[in-house]
Amino acid sequence: MMKTILLIGIGPGDPDALTLAAIKAISRADVFFFLEKEGEGKDQLIRFRQQILQTHRGDRPYRTASAALPQRDRDANGYVGAVQEWHRRRTEIIGTLIDTEMSDGETAGLLIWGDPALYDGTIQHLRDLIESGRNDLCFEVIPGITSVQMLVARHKIPLNRIGESITITTGRQIEQADPASITNAVVMLDSRSAFRRLEGSGEVDIYWGGDVGGPDERLISGPLDAVADQIDAAIALQRARKGWIMDNYLLRRRTVSSETDR
Ligand SMILES: C[S@@+](CC[C@H](N)C(=O)[O-])C[C@H]1O[C@@H](n2cnc3c(N)ncnc32)[C@H](O)[C@@H]1O
Repeated sequence: MMKTILLIGIGPGDPDALTLAAIKAISRADVFFFLEKEGEGKDQLIRFRQQILQTHRGDRPYRTASAALPQRDRDANGYVGAVQEWHRRRTEIIGTLIDTEMSDGETAGLLIWGDPALYDGTIQHLRDLIESGRNDLCFEVIPGITSVQMLVARHKIPLNRIGESITITTGRQIEQADPASITNAVVMLDSRSAFRRLEGSGEVDIYWGGDVGGPDERLISGPLDAVADQIDAAIALQRARKGWIMDNYLLRRRTVSSETDR
């Protein structure tokens, strides 16, 4: 008998951003795994998931099982080595939960922040478990609204300008990129205000969102040179208030063609 894992995208913090498919998947699971890395925002992220279950699960009882996911060891074997080791340990933890918390024929749900396909390792963990020979296992992916979609919806802008590409990248990549090469990019996982690298050209607009969709949402947009300090102040304020912030932003270089496309 197979064990089935549902990777359910739950959106980036707005309970109304759950899809009908996510709600249906929630009703199928016998057990929910709560996997949260220690540290920033853990309690609030778990509370949000519990709220979703309370609202959408109905009367059918369910079990929960939790495991703390390890933090990435930033010193081990360089960046790539540390990420690989971290990924391996997380895969192992999920495998152990499946072994100890599920019976044959059961279904487990994992409520994944935003969409499971965007900067989230869980799909790869499941693929690795199956590739390692676990043929008692199958999984389904239920897409969710990403924090990127929520950001552009809140700012009421299109993600890409007509005929132009859009890059989705990380703060770490922006820190290493040639600033002139960045024309239209959404930046995630930035803890060090990497947008400041593009300051000074007078050509770049930024659309920034802190905790988009959630109760602490904050939006700032405008010419990067004019609003960079304001964004840093908003980030600092939120960190001082609750200890953490999840933010993302779109950097858009103004071009002659874009003026006509708008
Ligand atoms: C590990 S990634 C997960 C992304 C998620 N799977 C998604 O679909 O949006 C976490 C990063 O997503 C972005 N993020 C997630 N939720 C957010 C939110 N509510 N507001 C702004 N950015 C968010 C931040 O850049 C954060 O560093």
